[in-house]
Amino acid sequence: MNQLYVPALDAAPREGALRDARGRHKRKLRVSLTDRCNLQCLYCMPEHPKWLPREQILRRDELVRLVRLFVTELGIREVRLTGGEPLLRRDAVEIVGALNDLRSIGLERIAMTSNAVRLAPVAGALRQAGLDDLNISIDSITPERFHAMTRGQVAPVLEGIAAARAAGIGVKLNSVVIRGYNEDEVLPLVRWAAGQDVSLRFIEFMPLDGRGLWTRDKVITEAEILEQVGREFGIERLPRTAEPAEYFRLDGRYRLGIIPTISRPFCSTCDRVRLSATGELYSCLFSEACRDLKAPLRSGADDARLAQLVRGHVWHKEAGYAARPGYVERPITMHHLGG
Ligand code: GTP
Ligand code: 5AD
Ligand code: SF4
Repeated sequence: MNQLYVPALDAAPREGALRDARGRHKRKLRVSLTDRCNLQCLYCMPEHPKWLPREQILRRDELVRLVRLFVTELGIREVRLTGGEPLLRRDAVEIVGALNDLRSIGLERIAMTSNAVRLAPVAGALRQAGLDDLNISIDSITPERFHAMTRGQVAPVLEGIAAARAAGIGVKLNSVVIRGYNEDEVLPLVRWAAGQDVSLRFIEFMPLDGRGLWTRDKVITEAEILEQVGREFGIERLPRTAEPAEYFRLDGRYRLGIIPTISRPFCSTCDRVRLSATGELYSCLFSEACRDLKAPLRSGADDARLAQLVRGHVWHKEAGYAARPGYVERPITMHHLGG
């Protein structure tokens, strides 16, 4: 698709499933539950984060109302709860339970992306409430290196991973690899994850960190990761799936993922939209503008009006990172919007 294509302003469809002017259908909604976090990952958090005032954060009933609207009116089938750290919300389990009730009207999957620090004690309750899948960030399994990357402890994260698996939640691990920080953790992580038979995906460092750390040369690319892994494992590239990750079979058995956002962007097939903890709709991680849904929601807008606002905003979704690579100055950092 021509990257300079500008859609007609009044062309947004009035009904039907959510789609943009570039022909991309939206099936997945990512909802940030809070901007707060108990870690300070280098690639995400500003050094001195300013937390949003609590009254600006969507209440559970508001959040569930919006998700219901996305499911009934707009064709969303999968919800992923993100943060900040979603488990810092005291009502995280209740939120999952309330979303579970939306299965009868078409919701198919409830997932969460968490740092797992507080996961172990609530893993069983989350599963019982209806959580299907968890993506958990872990950039090293060495306590010192994990601390250097996140300012936190790795032990509770490992306990959280074990508890989630024991509870029957599908677990995928996410590792962001940054040159000069943890590229030598690639092989230890692969050996460990393969030994545990837990799914692992490396993520190329994206220019969305809160402290201006990103430069192009700090990105460890898919090719470099494969070069490292290939020193120890036989690698077979697997057919592309609908996920952002590329998958590889190692030594004919373990499946490793790599999310090549920078070296091979997948913007042309992007099927997701994002809602911030304060009720702002972002159609792309790299968007500079959003559509506020909280003000109309709080001033009594009905579902038809809210759906119209969402359709209009998503229709104008930008081409994405693929069209404008490089560092992005955004009004919002990763911990506001979820990875
Ligand atoms: P599922 O496909 O539902 O498993 O989710 P996911 O893998 O997208 O979720 P997760 O929160 O684990 O995201 C992992 C990484 O994928 C993020 O840190 C980003 O690097 C990348 N990613 C996720 N969504 C987008 C997106 O919309 N655009 C881009 N460019 N990258 C994304
Ligand atoms: N680049 C790539 N991935 C990131 N994440 C957060 N910030 C970045 C970034 N700058 C990922 C984390 C986590 C998810 C919330 O987002 O690895 O898995
Ligand atoms: Fe917190 Fe997740 Fe950001 Fe790390 S990546 S600081 S765990 S929100």
